[in-house]
Amino acid sequence: MTVKESIMQGVLPKHIAVIMDGNGRWAKKRGLNRVFGHRNGVQAVHETMEAAVELGIPFVTFYAFSTENWNRPQEEISALTGLLLKTIDQETPTLMEHQVRLLTIGDSGRFGPEVTAKLDELKAKTAGNTGTTVLLALNYSGKWDLVQAARRMALDAVAGRLEPHTIDESVFATYLSTAGIPDPDLLIRTSGEYRISNFLLWQLAYAEFYFTPVLWPDFRKTHLFEAIADFQQRERRFGMTGDQLTDKQQ
Ligand code: FPP
Repeated sequence: MTVKESIMQGVLPKHIAVIMDGNGRWAKKRGLNRVFGHRNGVQAVHETMEAAVELGIPFVTFYAFSTENWNRPQEEISALTGLLLKTIDQETPTLMEHQVRLLTIGDSGRFGPEVTAKLDELKAKTAGNTGTTVLLALNYSGKWDLVQAARRMALDAVAGRLEPHTIDESVFATYLSTAGIPDPDLLIRTSGEYRISNFLLWQLAYAEFYFTPVLWPDFRKTHLFEAIADFQQRERRFGMTGDQLTDKQQ
């Protein structure tokens, strides 16, 4: 049985979050500019999306650009912005063919009007698609998300639209950029780094973490299948004991 076939018999994650790391090192190993790593990373995004579609994974989130990434050299930021525009054009037919809906999280307006217009167009075009939802995290960070949620809650409270004593975890979650989307149950990070890097801080509370030494440009469908197969071996206890879980299942 192939890894993919074995996966189909288990419980699939509803939402996979991906920290795509190692583009720079991939390029450096080949004596190339970092931008080549990013360019080759697009193929890995494409394959991961297709694999998620094949399995019927409802949500996949890619950490494409963090709020901290603005500290990179301007040349690299411009190259990433250009790559984003090119990738949107290149991937639109695939998204439509596979019924993928595209959403973004993060303050993506900072990439400028051209990117904003292209993203708005793509989101509108794919809005009716009923397959996998792909979220691109652009100018995103977990702390940013928590702060923008708190700020909007405060504004609603001041305006009389929100009673502070009604704020609980479920109300808080409706103010996050991922409102209405289930929390990731699996986080994948490539390139052998073991960090969360200010990604979905609230949303990853109960996620299973999977780390692989594979550099992002080398990540292929089979790597995603391996991560999911590993996930399916985990015992997810959500704070309960293993015995309680066994009792619940019986
Ligand atoms: C991390 O590798 C990667 C990024 C910050 C950018 C991710 C971008 C892509 C995969 C390509 C574009 C994607 C889309 C969706 C258009 P790194 O540069 O930090 O690698 P390093 O740690 O080896 O230096």
